[in-house]
Amino acid sequence: MKQKISQQLWRRAQETFPGGVNSPVRAFRSVGGNPLFIASGKGSYTKDADGNRHLDFLSSWGPLILGHAPTKVVKATEKALRDGSTFGTTTERELALGEFILSHLPFLGKIRFVNSGTEAVMTALRLARGVTGREKIIKFEGCYHGHSDALLARAGSGLLTLSGNIADSSSPGVPESIVQNTLVLPLDDAATFDEAIKKYGDSIAAVIIEPVPANAGLLLQRRAFIDYIVAAARANKSLVIFDEVISGFRLTLGGYAGRENLNPDLITYGKIIGGGLPVGAIAGEASLMNRLSPEGPVYQAGTLSGNPLAMAAGLATLKILAARKGEAYVRLKNIAAYLKKSFAAEVAPLFTARDWQIELVQEESLFWFSFQKSGEPTVVRSVTAIEAFSAAIYARIFHELLERGVYMAPSAYEVGFLNTTLRRRDIDFFIQALRKTIKNLPTRIREFS
Ligand SMILES: Cc1ncc(COP(=O)(O)O)c(C=O)c1O
Repeated sequence: MKQKISQQLWRRAQETFPGGVNSPVRAFRSVGGNPLFIASGKGSYTKDADGNRHLDFLSSWGPLILGHAPTKVVKATEKALRDGSTFGTTTERELALGEFILSHLPFLGKIRFVNSGTEAVMTALRLARGVTGREKIIKFEGCYHGHSDALLARAGSGLLTLSGNIADSSSPGVPESIVQNTLVLPLDDAATFDEAIKKYGDSIAAVIIEPVPANAGLLLQRRAFIDYIVAAARANKSLVIFDEVISGFRLTLGGYAGRENLNPDLITYGKIIGGGLPVGAIAGEASLMNRLSPEGPVYQAGTLSGNPLAMAAGLATLKILAARKGEAYVRLKNIAAYLKKSFAAEVAPLFTARDWQIELVQEESLFWFSFQKSGEPTVVRSVTAIEAFSAAIYARIFHELLERGVYMAPSAYEVGFLNTTLRRRDIDFFIQALRKTIKNLPTRIREFS
């Protein structure tokens, strides 16, 4: 793979940005090596500055459910740009996206657009605290909810990738006085949750969870656990917040809440609803949302909130997802099933002579490689159950796949995203690249370092 131009750009980037990047995991620190500079993308493929083509499962960390540069989304965004990129007033475009979302997700009463998932969660917490008059929140170990102070406690995503240890997964600069109001509990553990509610009940404003935790691997939760915490939080008069920044509009149009017919008090969205442009949203029952300013006292604002370009890209994306009774989701389901079948038939048998193996964990169009000791496959539901050797094996796999034309997230803890433009031949290409990769790797865990 040619890398001359990417290397030159990377040298310049390090002079310009801290660590060469504007978001930490992009720096390849946990897998080693230097990042490629992506120049363009179409459908499932990207092209980098040196002209290398990659099958892209990073998918910009989730927004690109329709692949890169979908024609209708590009056209709608171009039109919005020609009409003027921002006005600082409410526009028909943001109304159109808001109405579209509320009409398709009837369990939501009102929505407010912000500029990122981080902002959405930050606002949801402020709203929960403002409404309940309580200070503490409960979050779960390994769940990532953006980089606002209160949530940088035993968090997943880049924090976990860089520290490699959930216990250190926080950040200097976050005052103790702030995180002491964040109770971090293990996933899949109703008893510990119960104890926390008993001990701190009347000071807990909200319980926030990624219902499909996808920032510390893919830690699929039992429905019974989700039901338990929802019911216990409700009984305690704490608000329930589902962070669906990843799962929203990805599992189904209605995300996890819609699919499981659950009704959290607030849901945060991001990624897909901006069609690849910066966006986030908080939504919930109208009377609760009306506590936000200017209707209510809980302050929240944003110069570029509801930005016309992001609204146009988001609406064009969601219209495609909703068209023909959600045919896009059927396509995603089929391609996910094909990946599962191909992996089982062609990759799983390669592990017979090894002391390690990969479990392919999937939830609709999300997938993750869970590394396990051979013959000991377990369902990993909490971050502490992830094997410590995963990062070393993943780093090798990541680079071998990259050389063979497959772009995965540069972290053992991040998931892969499928998109609607993938065809069986793309999955076949992936599976063959994976087979060659695995055959090239040591058979013993201790040989990875
Ligand atoms: C579940 C979840 N919540 C919140 C965020 C923060 O979103 P953003 O990066 O847009 O601020 C992320 C980002 O990956 C996320 O996965």
